[in-house]
Parts: sequence; structure tokens; C-alpha cells
Amino acid sequence: MGQTLHFAIVGTGSIAGHFIRSIQEIDGCEVAALCSSTQQRALAAREKYNIEAYSDLSVLLQHEQVDIVCICTASGLHLQAAVIAANAGKHIICEKPLEIDTQRVDQMIQACDDNQVKLGCIFQNRFSEDFVKLRQMVESGLLGKMVAINAMIPWYRSDSYYGDSHWRGTLDGDGGGALINQGIHTVDLFQLLGGPVAEVFGKVLTTTHDIEGEDLAMAVVTFKSGLIGQIQASTSMWPGYPERLEVYGEKGSIILEGGIISHFNVQGIEHQVAVSSGDISGSSNPMAISHQLHRKQILDFANAVRTDTQPVIDGREGRKAVALIEGIYRSSRLGQPVIMG
Ligand SMILES: NC(=O)c1ccc[n+]([C@@H]2O[C@H](COP(=O)([O-])OP(=O)(O)OC[C@H]3O[C@@H](n4cnc5c(N)ncnc54)[C@H](O)[C@@H]3O)[C@@H](O)[C@H]2O)c1
Repeated sequence: MGQTLHFAIVGTGSIAGHFIRSIQEIDGCEVAALCSSTQQRALAAREKYNIEAYSDLSVLLQHEQVDIVCICTASGLHLQAAVIAANAGKHIICEKPLEIDTQRVDQMIQACDDNQVKLGCIFQNRFSEDFVKLRQMVESGLLGKMVAINAMIPWYRSDSYYGDSHWRGTLDGDGGGALINQGIHTVDLFQLLGGPVAEVFGKVLTTTHDIEGEDLAMAVVTFKSGLIGQIQASTSMWPGYPERLEVYGEKGSIILEGGIISHFNVQGIEHQVAVSSGDISGSSNPMAISHQLHRKQILDFANAVRTDTQPVIDGREGRKAVALIEGIYRSSRLGQPVIMG
């Protein structure tokens, strides 16, 4: 197993609890300290988790032995924490999206490269057993010639979800709305299956919430392979339904719903479809997701640090979904398709 890895967690809001629980369940990993935005929140976090807590990441890193910094702050604050951690020589595992646009993501990647530390981006749904199976089946050519891939995220978030937060749905804090915050998980799986993107034609709107970002997005994506697909993401579709990744090929189709293969119809092949034990997708409740997939991804990152190899989702991998979403936003502003780099 090697030496114990010590983690610091910056940002002690909703998702931080998933990191603390995951790290505490992994052999040879420990949470050394937490960092909140204020002294008062640090005291509350120390009380809640019984772990040393600070209100300044630089001070934390001066006082504590830390190998890996987990960034769980608002999306538009990831860069700031990443630069501090990278300059202190710490490896970084950062919540999705890495940052709110590719320019800021590139600065994070650069800071990590300059300091020779690893950067990982949380996209825990890539670690779902059924997604792994689906990807293997698609890549093995089981569906024959591909016809289309769709990412559908008909989620719901209440007005208070946005109103009670200083950053959700804002352009500076979130980078947008339903696409870059909620939809990005499925957009990431979509681009992983489809490969490099050639062109996007998108439209985003704010329909039912009083926010700067979008609560409805639709896009047609053309991959470099010639395959096309569509993305639909929302936080206005009450009561919220599990997200779907639909893969259609000439020999059949597979649909992943809430991380589980819900439909499997491929000519001449039997496959047992799992029955979901409830909605664990976060379609209407952001905290309904289990920490199990975070645990798998944090374990992968810890192994990468120990063996000096790349984590499954490094900075450049994490950048791809942000670039695709940025293309959709640009297309919507211009009212025309945009060619991707
Ligand atoms: N992977 C997932 O499924 C998932 C789920 C939820 C959130 N997220 C991501 O996690 C991040 C945090 O989301 P959340 O829902 O936990 O948000 P949150 O608002 O509940 O928590 C963010 C925390 O960061 C703190 N903070 C802000 N600036 C800080 C600073 N400079 N130093 C220390 N702390 C600071 C805030 O006070 C707050 O406690 C976002 O990027 C979000 O997209 C990912």
C-alpha cells in the first residue's frame, strides 16, 4: 500500500462530505485538514467532522502535512485554490467543472505542469459499472455502425436552490447554469463515446428561474467521425427525471438511465437489464447521489499519485466537457453553428 496519503479539502459545503467519507473509507488515506471560506465556517466544519479546519489554504498548507488537495469550492473559485496548491507542490483533485471556461482550465493545467503535480477532475459517473459496460460494448462494435448518441438531462432545481446560494446559476461562480453545472456529467460521457467534436449548434435559454445562466439548453453536436448527437439539459423540468445517455447503432441500442442500463436491445444478444433501486441520479435532489463513485475515483487518483502514473481523468481529460459546453454557449450567442478546434 505504501505510505499514508494525507488530503486537505478546500470548501466545506455540500460535496465536501462525499470526499471526507470516501477518503476515510480508503485504506492508507486520511483527511489531514479542511479549509472553509471564513473562520466561523471553519469552526463549524471542525465541530461537524472532528477534523482540524482553517480559513486560509496557504496557512493550512504551511501547518499541515498534505499530499493531495481536494477542491470543493464554487466552480469559479477552483483556479484560485489550484494555483495555491500547485505552487505549494501538492497534487490536486478538483470537482467538476475544472473551472468555468477553458482559459481558466488552461491556467490550472499550466500551474500543475509547471510544478510537476498531478491534476484530476471529478467525473464520478465514468466509474459507474454500467457505464463502463456500455462503453466496452460500444467500443467493441456490438452496435455496428453508430447512428446517434444523445445526452438528455431533464432535471429540476427549485428557486431556493439558486436563491440560497451566492454562486449557483451565476456567470462568475458557476459559468452558466444547467449545462455546466448539472448536465456536464452526461456531456462528459457523451463526448467520451463520440470522440473529438467538429461542430456544435446550440441554443440556451433562461426559462423559469431568476438566474444569469441557462436553465434550458439544446444542441446538435457533430463529431469528427461524422457521427451526430444531441444534448438537452435543463433544471426546469419538474419534478426532474434521471438523466439518459442514449446510444443508437445499426444493430440496436443501449440506454443508460441514472447510471444504470435501463434498455438494451441489440439484435441476437441477451443482456440482463438491472432494475434501479430508486433515483440516485440527483435529478431533483442534488445530494441524492451516493459517495461510492467518488470513492472509486479518489482511489484511482491516490493510486496514480503512489505509482506516479496518470489518473483516469486528468486535467486535459476534464477540459473536454468544458470546451464542448463553451462551444454551445458561443453558438447560442452567435445564433449559428461553431467549428470546434
Ligand atoms: N460531482 C458531483 O456530483 C458534484 C455535486 C455537487 C457539487 N459539485 C461541485 O462541487 C463544487 C462545490 O459545490 P457544492 O455544492 O459543495 O457548493 P457549496 O456552495 O455547498 O459549497 C462550496 C463551499 O466553498 C466555500 N468556499 C468558497 N470560497 C472559498 C475559499 N476561498 N476557501 C475555502 N472555502 C471556500 C463556500 O463557503 C462553501 O462552503 C462545485 O464546483 C460543484 O460543481 C459536484
